[in-house]
Amino acid sequence: METTATAIKIEKIKTSKISQVDFDNLAFGSVFTDHMLVCDYKNGAWQTPEIMPYQAISLEPSAKIFHYGQSIFEGMKAYKDDHGDAFLFRPSDNHRRLNISANRMCIPEIPKAYFMDGLKELINLDKDWIPQKDGSSLYIRPFIFASGKGFHASPADEYKFLICLAPSGAYFSGKVKVLIEETYSRSANGGVGFAKTGGNYAGQFFPTQLAVKEGYNQVIWTDDNTHENIEEAGAMNIFIRINDTLITAPTSDRILDGITRKSILEIAQAEGIRTEVRKITVPEVVEAAKNGSLKEMFGAGTAAVVSPIAAFGYRGTDYDLPELTDSYASRFKKIITDIQYNRSEDPFGWRQ
Ligand code: COI
Repeated sequence: METTATAIKIEKIKTSKISQVDFDNLAFGSVFTDHMLVCDYKNGAWQTPEIMPYQAISLEPSAKIFHYGQSIFEGMKAYKDDHGDAFLFRPSDNHRRLNISANRMCIPEIPKAYFMDGLKELINLDKDWIPQKDGSSLYIRPFIFASGKGFHASPADEYKFLICLAPSGAYFSGKVKVLIEETYSRSANGGVGFAKTGGNYAGQFFPTQLAVKEGYNQVIWTDDNTHENIEEAGAMNIFIRINDTLITAPTSDRILDGITRKSILEIAQAEGIRTEVRKITVPEVVEAAKNGSLKEMFGAGTAAVVSPIAAFGYRGTDYDLPELTDSYASRFKKIITDIQYNRSEDPFGWRQ
């Protein structure tokens, strides 16, 4: 990793908590490293970023985040190779997307130097927390929220940008069973579906809980208008393989421009896998399941990487997907994680 240019105030922790962590049994995102980065926005400008011991933060009860949900976040990971060197995966893309979300939510953009230099300095400080076990990584959560006070329903005048780090194991264990959702919607045209804003995720909890009660792990989101077009899988993008063709919905107002999604599309092109970025309907998938041409469905996202779907439920019927020995899902997962963990060449220039 490069050295940083941005002035950052650093207060190191007196005694590390690392010895309390069981690195062999890490859940996802539930223990946090020694330090965090905090940067305040006030008087129309981002102030000097500070790295400090991970701790609770104090906010006014009238802070607008609590009332109007003005918040955005990113999900990234740091990986360690066998020599103990640390790497990030496409971090500039996360910075770019954070600012796309910021614009939609009327949050001031974070300058690239603050984001990248702050991230690198923080990770260097907490490098020992990056798990070395295969499948584990240091999950990075950059986020910005409205700390400015007031009940007026308008953008705040003060914000906080934070980065917290969580050594993490797998997001899902095993294959998932999903339910095609036809009642609730994740997003709408002109809405905030493409932005990584908190409410997008909170809005999924209730429909997902209903699906879990019926024995599913996640819902497949369909478009809000007709509920015919397949759009996302839980908090991930979705890919569907019919015969040898890989299909995913085009990004739009309603669909997140996932970094794993676009990496898979680039890998598929390099591997000579036929891809189609187009609308894919539920009847098309159900018909393919019935006639045997539906080979695979999988979710793609930073947290879960590639998450194979074992079965989907639709209008009271469950459709099982075949067990493949040469699945696209496992092929993409291997190529991506080999790049991330520095186990292979990186012909795309994604590793940093
Ligand atoms: C990620 O994949 O990093 C996400 O942001 C999804 C999150 C709900 C864990």
